[in-house]
Amino acid sequence: MITLTTDRLLLRPPSEEDIAPLLEMNTDPEVMRYIGDGSPGPSDPESTAGIVARARQGWADNGFGMLSVLTRDGGEYAGWVTLAEPRFLPQLLPVVEIGWRFRRAFWGRGYATEAAAPLLAFAFDEAGLDRIVSIRHPDNDRSRRVMEKLGLRFAEEAVVPVRGTRVLVDAITREEYAARRGG
Ligand SMILES: CC(C)(COP(=O)(O)OP(=O)(O)OC[C@H]1O[C@@H](n2cnc3c(N)ncnc32)[C@H](O)[C@@H]1OP(=O)(O)O)[C@@H](O)C(=O)NCCC(=O)NCCS
Repeated sequence: MITLTTDRLLLRPPSEEDIAPLLEMNTDPEVMRYIGDGSPGPSDPESTAGIVARARQGWADNGFGMLSVLTRDGGEYAGWVTLAEPRFLPQLLPVVEIGWRFRRAFWGRGYATEAAAPLLAFAFDEAGLDRIVSIRHPDNDRSRRVMEKLGLRFAEEAVVPVRGTRVLVDAITREEYAARRGG
């Protein structure tokens, strides 16, 4: 498991102290508006502890996964960024998705982009992945902006089989990432 730092943020594997803010974030309807079917996540500490445990196990199993994002100034839990297999879209597999979720109080500060950038670098440089996708609800403009700023570009539309809902898939390849970094 890894730790990454940026100018304003510390990224480290999820831990038990994240459970309370994670639960708050996952039960905020505005945060969850464009996730899955739009309903809030689990509202009990046990299920949220399970998210933390699975995230830690994911790192052990895959060599990549979810990182909690904390402010360096104050150590507040702002949200998470992740590398994960989008199993809800089996037609895309095998592929790895980059994703993000932040507490509403931390939106509009550039944190999502700042935290996702070193994770994207990790995906190509350390995890050895060749292509990264990011998947969003068609109306999730905030997330689209983050993808755009990271250099991902629209790749395809897809339908989530279990829900029948349409999503948009953006992507960046290792070559595109290298060219962007070189430029
Ligand atoms: C998606 C999400 C992470 C985006 O958060 P965000 O705060 O809007 O995104 P960023 O961290 O990149 O910040 C963007 C804005 O912060 C502002 N900002 C303020 N200070 C800044 C700084 N120092 N650096 C960069 N941007 C800054 C910018 O105006 C920027 O707006 P722009 O996109 O018009 O350029 C957030 O809306 C969220 O958690 N949503 C709910 C979960 C979700 O939908 N996840 C994605 C599923 S696909």
